[in-house]
Amino acid sequence: MDPNSSGLQQRLAEAGQSHLVQFWKELSPEGQADLARELQAMDVQEINGFFKSAMETSSSSRHEKMDARMEPVPREVLGSVTRDRDSLKDWDAAGLQCISQSKVAALLLAGGQGTRLGFSYPKGMYDVGLPSHKTLFQMQAERILKLQQLAEQKHKVKCCIPWYIMTSGRTMESTKDFFSQHNYFGLDKDSVVFFQQGMLPAMDYTGKIILESKGKLSMAPDGNGGLYRALGNQGIIDDMQKRGIEFIHVYCVDNILVKVADPAFVGFCVQKGADCGAKVVEKNNPTEAVGVVCKVDGRYQVVEYSEITLATAEKRSSDGRLMFNAGNVANHFFSFSFLRDVVQKHEPQLQHHVAQKKIPYVDAQGQLIKPDKPNGIKMEKFVFDIFQFAKTFVVYEVLREDEFSPLKNADTQDGKDTPTTARHALMSLHHRWVLNAGGHFIDENGRRVPAIPRDGAAGSVTADGNRNLKDGTDLPIKCEISPLVSYGGEGLEELVKGREFHPTLVIDEHGVKELVKNGV
Ligand code: UD1
Repeated sequence: MDPNSSGLQQRLAEAGQSHLVQFWKELSPEGQADLARELQAMDVQEINGFFKSAMETSSSSRHEKMDARMEPVPREVLGSVTRDRDSLKDWDAAGLQCISQSKVAALLLAGGQGTRLGFSYPKGMYDVGLPSHKTLFQMQAERILKLQQLAEQKHKVKCCIPWYIMTSGRTMESTKDFFSQHNYFGLDKDSVVFFQQGMLPAMDYTGKIILESKGKLSMAPDGNGGLYRALGNQGIIDDMQKRGIEFIHVYCVDNILVKVADPAFVGFCVQKGADCGAKVVEKNNPTEAVGVVCKVDGRYQVVEYSEITLATAEKRSSDGRLMFNAGNVANHFFSFSFLRDVVQKHEPQLQHHVAQKKIPYVDAQGQLIKPDKPNGIKMEKFVFDIFQFAKTFVVYEVLREDEFSPLKNADTQDGKDTPTTARHALMSLHHRWVLNAGGHFIDENGRRVPAIPRDGAAGSVTADGNRNLKDGTDLPIKCEISPLVSYGGEGLEELVKGREFHPTLVIDEHGVKELVKNGV
């Protein structure tokens, strides 16, 4: 196909993007066909519009102004697993009831590229090195299975938690293959629904789309807020409606402790009559890489760690805590009707955020250049940017050590949010479950391991919100409990009460095992 005759050339010229076919004559017929297909499917004028408004909103003067407009979350919308301990059982029961009625779906955001982790497959396929070698996907699948079982046992009805999994052009095939190779980890195949978010081109600072090779645009997923467009154009909203879904738990792939479809969180949001809710942990270091839930101009929002100034991040209240301490753990609750309204009405109002990046490009002479400083932007929508449309918004505060340990970086980096910290966080939580259920651990000399780890021991949380794992002598007790046995620490008494265990302890559907002592 000739770009001239198809009108493509003219469309590109009108949008100031003619350079995209600059190397047309040098491409093979297949290369030409691929490029033409990619460009035909792209609305270049729309992309130019995204660029213009994204650049306007991201200017730094606007950020400074935004700092002045930020307010912390007011107490009245906040529920807390520690301060509201008395209500926790009720919330949990209310959520479990909704689950038993098959009204709750889980929605996993798994379209990211995992660049920081340096793993070329989807992050959910990562094995952090637990005794079982389960991947993040498997743990999440098993939590869903267990939760269905708990709801069925309590309410004596069969139920289903459909699992919607958003992938991107980069992760779709490998994610689907992985699930099919593992037989959907025991879940009903029809209740695991994959869908794909969109992609956007990288642009240089003048708004020109970047070519990564002579016949290929530099493309990246359009951010986890690409969710809303995808929910509409991939028929997912219709699918939810058909299944009678009323509440959706949306979460990110990388948190090893995630309580998928968490009944207490769902129950809390439902009981408060919320259409939208966010789970948070207390942020205790100003530079921790989490967004903060807050109000901006009276509307709820997450201000990302990359978008807040240090001065604002460091502000403290009179009690010494950070003023903006509602750390976003990327676990959101939406009512179905709210989500449908967002998809059908509000999505076009969502602004793209700008990330400045070093983007390899082909220059006008056809040379591939790998820049050593940022030379362009990627545009992304964020999943939480719909909070502003909520009529009743609530915030649910949980304990970091119970629910939040994200996998972001490879083990070689400075020890934060790595496979090691994730693995240790899970084992430390499971250690505590065993202790709470009346079990004990003994060391190689036959002595009981103290229930409270020494100060600074692995699994404890340092001031910067990360686990202190640097010292090899402070390793956690090696203990792993399969989600198929316990979703949140329940049901362990009959297995461990009054018993003493040598680590490594593994409790799974086959029973309680002590493995020979070797490194985990
Ligand atoms: C995210 C949150 C941040 C929060 C932190 C907690 C967003 C925008 N930011 O930050 O507020 O404090 O997690 O760990 O949510 N993803 C897609 N498609 C994309 C890009 C990402 O599905 O185009 C998915 C990823 O697969 C992942 C999740 O979104 O599951 C979060 O992406 P990531 O880039 O890791 O977000 P953070 O910057 O860590």
